[in-house]
Amino acid sequence: MENNPNGIFFDKLAQVIDSKELIKLIVSNQKNKSSGLLSIIVTIAQLKRGYRLNFVYRHTTKDITKNYEFTEGIELLKEALATDFNNADLFSNHENVTLVTTPAGKVKTSTHEPTLQPFTAFHHDRIKVRLINTIGNIYLRELGITNANWEVRREMSDKYKQINRYIELIEPELKEITLPSDYHVVDMGSGKGYLTFALYDYLANSLGKIPVMTGVEFREDLVQSCNLIAEKSKFDHLNFISGTIEKVELNKIDILIALHACDTATDDAIYRGITSNASLIVCAPCCHKQIRKELNVTNELNNIVKYGILKERQAEIITDTIRAMILEAFGYKTKVFEFISTEHTPKNVMIIGRKTAKENPDKQKIFNDIKAIREVFGIEKHYLEELMRRP
Ligand SMILES: C[S@@+](CC[C@H](N)C(=O)[O-])C[C@H]1O[C@@H](n2cnc3c(N)ncnc32)[C@H](O)[C@@H]1O
Repeated sequence: MENNPNGIFFDKLAQVIDSKELIKLIVSNQKNKSSGLLSIIVTIAQLKRGYRLNFVYRHTTKDITKNYEFTEGIELLKEALATDFNNADLFSNHENVTLVTTPAGKVKTSTHEPTLQPFTAFHHDRIKVRLINTIGNIYLRELGITNANWEVRREMSDKYKQINRYIELIEPELKEITLPSDYHVVDMGSGKGYLTFALYDYLANSLGKIPVMTGVEFREDLVQSCNLIAEKSKFDHLNFISGTIEKVELNKIDILIALHACDTATDDAIYRGITSNASLIVCAPCCHKQIRKELNVTNELNNIVKYGILKERQAEIITDTIRAMILEAFGYKTKVFEFISTEHTPKNVMIIGRKTAKENPDKQKIFNDIKAIREVFGIEKHYLEELMRRP
């Protein structure tokens, strides 16, 4: 083994993978310089189905992420170093190990003091491995979520958790729908684009289904900065346009998301989703001013809207219940749940509607039930209900 640098290197690699002390491995320096694959970055990921080796294949124009069982991953690395790359840099808690293949084909290894912070996440089981990879993800860095070393900045860790949670929640829904090959995704009120970029990244790089994606935002400055980041990230099919949720012209919507679109902007978004026959509608409502102003309880329930904060919560419950009922009426299997703990944001309810039928056979009954709710709370109209009544 002493005379077999490759053997030494891969033994060490297997050890640090086994003990979960691998911080990262970078395979680089292509043998064939014209190859589009620049490097491979490998870390350990803790997925629901167990630990895996997470490979980020860095190309000139895109990154592709794949997870492999440990043994399969190690075999792939052996192959990559035999045929495609000359260098491997292993960073572990205790040492850095380098493997170099010289132009004459001679393989050498050397060992150095560790240079990266020890990786202890899996030992304490405290840090969860996230669906959105930080390493090499340009948009996370451009949005200020990660620093120059691809580490999540402390002050942005809530935002990073939020975008991961959001992908985690959408993931099972995406697996339930059938999308055409040229599917369109729209983010209504995309703001700084945190969730737009994360969803594009997940769809294109984790699911391998590149969408045509549009972020709609009325603030021109945000549209410009997001388009710049999309370009830098080489997210070629992601485009941000300046416009309003109500009026923006879109050919087709297969998936619609609207996160924290203010007040009735969420209703406008749901309306656009339903009338476009979108397969999936995902929204996290924001403020609920419209119904709050309309509440006029004159019956024995009047005490439940007596106190400001509780009135606000009632407005939220009524607004979102009716939104969910309307989605059901139009053939969407609908879920309402807490998006992320209130410790991260108070705007934490998420409504997901997945189209399962053209229309609900009980549509009329649902609208009668909505009317009954409105009557109890003295509400003249619910904005989305009005929109849906449009001819
Ligand atoms: C609270 S931010 C949320 C941004 C983003 N969706 C997120 O969750 O990070 C709401 C964004 O929606 C935009 N917005 C609100 N109403 C809109 C409308 N009717 N049409 C287009 N954009 C709208 C605002 O300018 C703002 O950037």
